[in-house]
Amino acid sequence: MNGIEQMYQENILDHYKNPRNKGIIKNPSVHHHENNPLCGDELDLYLVIDNHKVIDVKINGHGCAISQASASMLSEQIKGKALEDLKKLAKENILEMLGIPLSPVRLKCALLSLDTLKNSILIYEKYVNKK
Ligand code: FES
Repeated sequence: MNGIEQMYQENILDHYKNPRNKGIIKNPSVHHHENNPLCGDELDLYLVIDNHKVIDVKINGHGCAISQASASMLSEQIKGKALEDLKKLAKENILEMLGIPLSPVRLKCALLSLDTLKNSILIYEKYVNKK
């Protein structure tokens, strides 16, 4: 592992041990739960949305370091962002955020947070804030 990868690895562990935006929101605009059926790791995402922007976010979950660190890092990135921009987030953005090479199995771990976010927005737009 080179120095940069080690730095990313340490950052992942820091987010895993001290997840940012951890908790629940009592009356969110949308709350969605996803799990990774391969291992049972879970993630709950709570969003408060106003005027098509995320104004508050909380995450709650348990599982491997990659899935939970990825959720923590993503939570820091989505506050204040427009739903339209969040819908454009892709696998590459998550990989860039984590900064280390991942095996296909680990990729599933990394993408749990993105899947949860995308489905939360889908549910919000389809059922909560119908256009
Ligand atoms: Fe389950 Fe990583 S081992 S999400």
